[in-house]
Amino acid sequence: MSNEHLIINAAYKRPIERTPVWAMRQAGRYLAEYRETRAKAGNFLALCKNVELAAEVSIQPLDLIGVDGVIMFSDILTPLEGMGLELSFNPSPKFANPIRTQADIDNLKTPDPDESTPYVGKILNLLQKEVAGRVPIIGFCGAPFTLACYAVEGQGSKLFSKTKSMFFDQPAMAHQLMEKLTTMTIDYLNYQIENGAQMVQMFDTWAGTLSPDDFDQFVFPYVQRIFAGLKGKGTVPQVYYINGGSHLLSRMADSGCDVVGLDWMCDLKEAKDLIGHKVALQGNLDPNILFANQGVIRSKVKSLLDKFGPESGHIFNLGHGIDKEVHPDHLRAMVNAVKEMSVRT
Ligand code: CP3
Repeated sequence: MSNEHLIINAAYKRPIERTPVWAMRQAGRYLAEYRETRAKAGNFLALCKNVELAAEVSIQPLDLIGVDGVIMFSDILTPLEGMGLELSFNPSPKFANPIRTQADIDNLKTPDPDESTPYVGKILNLLQKEVAGRVPIIGFCGAPFTLACYAVEGQGSKLFSKTKSMFFDQPAMAHQLMEKLTTMTIDYLNYQIENGAQMVQMFDTWAGTLSPDDFDQFVFPYVQRIFAGLKGKGTVPQVYYINGGSHLLSRMADSGCDVVGLDWMCDLKEAKDLIGHKVALQGNLDPNILFANQGVIRSKVKSLLDKFGPESGHIFNLGHGIDKEVHPDHLRAMVNAVKEMSVRT
């Protein structure tokens, strides 16, 4: 069935009739319908764990915007609860017991995802039923380094200085943390694939803050191990996204993923020339363009489509998540522009 989906075909560079399009954070606060459903759930974390309501917000952008894929509603940080971390959101994430010492790392559990995040499997099952093959279901996770940033810092940060101190001062300990997060991630993504995810994306939001050498030491081997350890090779495409990852493009392409997710700081044509022979590309409209008028949005879409050219191997997306202040009409304008202007003749 998945062979018929535009996103899956583009991910494997099979012939397509037009470029597929979806948006990171497409299920979120820019939609009034999302805000209503979240209020019903009580709060963000309760929404993540409420199977019916989480499925409802996952499908909202399919019905309201017309995207070509449904990303399951969740967060990258929820599977850390099963490792023993106490998570809350307000709306930014916080861990009450951050990882700071060897003992903290020793105490981390590597959970069975069916026990620690049973709601995720159920959301995917329900999405399979409700989406009924119209578009593919996209699963996701945080990459181990990005998860480590939040787990060590205990919250978001500009610099993640505590995390950086741990990695540079106590590399052996940092590697043990990465090991445990890697094991958890492989199990978690395979669990999503078994439960109906038809493409999976790994978000490495903070890996772009590392130099290429430090990326090679602390991130690359783990990411390679994850992509090598996933089920569904050749049928369930694997996407690797790094925010601020322009200096890491060749490494991303060699990580074993099928699709490299680009932020908007790199030029799509340059990225295609550099790594387009190895992987498909996803991205990379500047999310701030959605604050412009719809005419500007259309012309920026056109210029990105032209940069990639008519071949298969491009999944249109934003270069990072959509901002909560964007008017839904503007995302709809982007999606419609891609659908109209990318038709292959
Ligand atoms: O893409 C989707 O629509 C699926 C859902 C999704 C969310 N978060 C929902 C969410 C996905 C894929 C994520 C990924 C995520 N979460 C990342 C990686 C992508 C990126 O943005 O780089 C990161 C770093 C997180 C951690 C996280 N979750 C942060 C930093 C925040 C606060 C954001 C803010 O603007 O304050 C969250 C909360 C969150 N995750 C919201 C949503 C819709 C907003 C919370 C709310 O509704 O109150």
